Amino acid sequence: MKSLIKKAIFPIAGLGTRFLPATKSIPKEMLTILDRPVLEWAVLEASKSGIEEMIFVTSSNKNTILEHFDKSELLELSLKKKKKLDKLKLIKEQNKLGYFSIVIQDEPKGLGHAVWCARKLIKKHENFAVILPDDVILSKTPAIKQLINVFNETNYSSVVGLKKVPKKDVSKYGVINIKKKYPNFYSISDLVEKPKIDEAPSNLSVVGRYVLSEKIFKTLSLKKKGFGNEIQLTDALNSLIEQPGLFGTEFEGRRFDCGSKLGFIEANLNFGLNDPEIKSNLRLLMKKL
Ligand code: UTP
Repeated sequence: MKSLIKKAIFPIAGLGTRFLPATKSIPKEMLTILDRPVLEWAVLEASKSGIEEMIFVTSSNKNTILEHFDKSELLELSLKKKKKLDKLKLIKEQNKLGYFSIVIQDEPKGLGHAVWCARKLIKKHENFAVILPDDVILSKTPAIKQLINVFNETNYSSVVGLKKVPKKDVSKYGVINIKKKYPNFYSISDLVEKPKIDEAPSNLSVVGRYVLSEKIFKTLSLKKKGFGNEIQLTDALNSLIEQPGLFGTEFEGRRFDCGSKLGFIEANLNFGLNDPEIKSNLRLLMKKL
């Protein structure tokens, strides 16, 4: 029988300083790619992958996030009156994406700490997904679903999403050391957060998709600080190598780093070129640039 992943943690408590001044009052995750906030694309990905519980780890000043996923009776009523039934359907679908919980991270102490903040919502021996909405992925099969497939194939080991990066960029990422290559995944012998170029064990970098065992909370509880004096998730992943085992998969799909301005614009252009309503006009417009 296949084991199921029913919960996803979305760490979204960062400051988003690269998007200031926009992120002074709008959370970075609420900036839109096409017609949906970055966070909604990530929630859609989870929902299409069979995940039912969405856990947002956020800071206390991000109220718009809650409002966005909440039912809006007033809006529904006025859309009904105006007979904008297609838009009404769109809004109603949002309420069916899953059950939402909020956990507060009091201070941005690092990604590992953000994940640890959600520990009480994960049961003993439970496996769960972690999705970083900044990494927006355009793929045929939802990226996290591809990781869940490897999780099932490897007898419920933990799995991280991987992308090859140019050697010169390895110092921006967590990088894996390959133990063994299989047809569609790798077993991992070690992970290094932001290695120096000449010390990087490979150019396979961990991007924002994970399927993890709750065993990771034991290591995260030690609150050991790593690179940048922050509690790093990558460091804690090393504790899963022995038990239950740690694998990585180069999932199919294009990944856009929407934590950066360039990646955000690139994502908007690509999602636009994928949208039946605007794609031809967008192509014309791009030719004129
Ligand atoms: P980043 O470091 O890329 O996000 O964290 P940031 O701090 O918001 O961005 P900049 O660099 O200031 O522009 C990657 C992800 O981890 C979350 C962030 O919200 C983002 O989704 N994160 C990071 C937390 O939730 N808590 C933290 O303490 C750190």
